[in-house]
Amino acid sequence: MRKIYIFDTTLRDGEQSPGVNLNTQEKVEIGLQLEKLGVDRIEAGFPAASPGDLAAVNAVARSVKNATIIGLARSREKDIDAVYEALKGAQDPCLHVFLATSPIHRKHKLRMEKHQVLETAEAAIKYAKKYFSKIEFSAEDAGRTELDFLCEVTELAIRTGATVVNIPDTVGYMNPSEYGNIFKTLKENVKGIEKIQLSAHCHDDLGMATANALAAILNGADQIEGTINGIGERAGNTSIEEVVMALETRSEFFQAKSSLVLNEIYRTSRLVSKLSGMVVPGNKAIVGANAFAHESGIHQDGMLKEKTTYEIMSPETIGLKESKLVLGKHSGRHAFREKLTDLGYELNDEQVNAAFAKFKDLADKKKDVTDEDIRALIEEKLVST
Ligand code: KIV
Ligand code: ZN
Repeated sequence: MRKIYIFDTTLRDGEQSPGVNLNTQEKVEIGLQLEKLGVDRIEAGFPAASPGDLAAVNAVARSVKNATIIGLARSREKDIDAVYEALKGAQDPCLHVFLATSPIHRKHKLRMEKHQVLETAEAAIKYAKKYFSKIEFSAEDAGRTELDFLCEVTELAIRTGATVVNIPDTVGYMNPSEYGNIFKTLKENVKGIEKIQLSAHCHDDLGMATANALAAILNGADQIEGTINGIGERAGNTSIEEVVMALETRSEFFQAKSSLVLNEIYRTSRLVSKLSGMVVPGNKAIVGANAFAHESGIHQDGMLKEKTTYEIMSPETIGLKESKLVLGKHSGRHAFREKLTDLGYELNDEQVNAAFAKFKDLADKKKDVTDEDIRALIEEKLVST
């Protein structure tokens, strides 16, 4: 089984979510939880962005011992110097340096010809080598870059000394077959590709970030970059918990796994939500409040007979106590009777039937029927009979 390295960028790309701002203490708290979760690499920030971020990256670098700590830099000496400063004290430091390669970015943002992009990337990696033995190079907007030019850039990055080459779908434009094909092409055509790790970094603008990351794995990616709860610029980044649980649940298909401590997933998700202020939608895969909740009578009956009827993974795996059977207007008698037993009521069939009819009346009027509602309904019924 191939190991997939997990590069967490919650503290960098995740923090780029509009409205999110993590202070040093919050970054350290999340960094320590990511360490417990067992991520291989933590991108702690963008030190050239502000003195505060440099200090925060440094605090994470000094606190987290069991993960590679990474700082982001543009292909500029002053940015690389800032990462060097920020990563002082890290056990295992790594620089992440990037430069855009797509025609749109070359023309409108960088105002560079192809040869200037190659020269700038080469100069940045050469400069970085005086400080770092681990260097990741990202070809920003790789998804919209001509494939032959992307091969050329990747080959140059490897020749110059990059140890990881990252292929970002910066604007979430790719679909799985296109994105997978980029990895296949690089693997087949780039000289020296076996010497480095290839990394996938996806955004979720079209809702395909997880699918694209998995397509990259099927085509040889060694590392997946993403964030907890999928937070990040615009529609966010690849959600780490989704990729990791897809690998876990379908390992026979992917023939690959991460080494994450899975039962720390839920705790990590809650912490990131609390400190970032980004609420996790109820229907979010893996960590949403409804991810292991069942409302309809048919599903609840199946769950009560055998959980695998409607659950492909168990809530305990990600650190949750149990699945939830939620009582609402779609619920059936089986789950209702279970709930009564849980609440300590021993009713005969006739009493259950009468209470069930009242419950259905209430459920038609009220979205969530709580334990308190059930108690009130039963007490009233018992008193009046
Ligand atoms: O999406 C992107 O291109 C990035 C790079 C800095 C890697 O976040
Ligand atoms: Zn990104």
